[in-house]
Amino acid sequence: MIYVISVIFFALIVGLMVTFVVQFRRRKGYQAEDSPPHNTRLEVIWTVIPTLLCVLIFYLGFKSFLNMSTPPANAYEISVTGQKWQWFFGYPNGHTASELHVPVDRPVKLVMTSEDVIHSLWIPAFRVKKDVVPGRYSKIWFQAIEPGDYPLLCTEYCGTGHSDMLSRVIVHEPGGFETWLRDADGLLDTLPPAEAGEKLYLTKGCTQCHSVDGTAGIGPTFQDMFAGSFATRDGATIVVDEDYVRESMLDPAASVIAGFEPVMPTYAGKLKDKEITMLIAYFKSISRHAPQEPASSDADSDHSDQPDLPDNPDNLDHPEDPDHSEEK
Ligand code: CUA
Repeated sequence: MIYVISVIFFALIVGLMVTFVVQFRRRKGYQAEDSPPHNTRLEVIWTVIPTLLCVLIFYLGFKSFLNMSTPPANAYEISVTGQKWQWFFGYPNGHTASELHVPVDRPVKLVMTSEDVIHSLWIPAFRVKKDVVPGRYSKIWFQAIEPGDYPLLCTEYCGTGHSDMLSRVIVHEPGGFETWLRDADGLLDTLPPAEAGEKLYLTKGCTQCHSVDGTAGIGPTFQDMFAGSFATRDGATIVVDEDYVRESMLDPAASVIAGFEPVMPTYAGKLKDKEITMLIAYFKSISRHAPQEPASSDADSDHSDQPDLPDNPDNLDHPEDPDHSEEK
């Protein structure tokens, strides 16, 4: 409506302006008259009509602003945490994911906070955007009307990884959301630990900073990390074992590998113990320093019941081997 009003007034004002410029241009033989002092009727008209329009626009805008800022009472609530540099979405059953899954045709309320700096959650397709601020909760709500896959991003510059703070909104078909949520939490238990760990790596936001192809990102690569030995920022040398991995997730600043900044947020409360164990299994599977379980790339589920213990001498690439200590 604002668009239509703008077009009408643009045409009216510019049209009259051009007409008058042509009609009252300076011509030979004409003497300019004095301007009339004023015209009360005209002035009242051009003041009252635009004022009424402005009030109408304000009323409509304010009404939709109130509607936008008041989530319906029956809205489905999802908690959102922004942290450098990823999003976490927490569902009522305790499941957390780095992608936002929502049901179609149902109001969804996001209760958002930040662990560190100010982020801003933006879902362009749903026309919602709001700052996510440490120490307080901001809320937005929307109702998705079409199943699909929509981008979600951070739109407040929040540091090195700001542009990687991307995620997706998956709007499920009717009934699909409930199934997804029920399965999502139990899914990992049905997979071999290393595969479950890979799923976690892909869905818990690790990819933002850690590669698995050997290239260093904001954090070190996970390739060949497990059982490798590294220098830390304090000049100590550590061997990446289960305890080091666990500590690095729960208290990331405790011991940081040299060459990287202590910028990782804690995963305490965001990863369950069994998930940390799955990630460790994944790190082992992609490290040449760690003893490999045969068929770790084979998805046959029965392999998970009987993991080969690393007692096969052929598999042993000794963890303390000093040759690998240059890995970074
Ligand atoms: Cu978070 Cu930009």
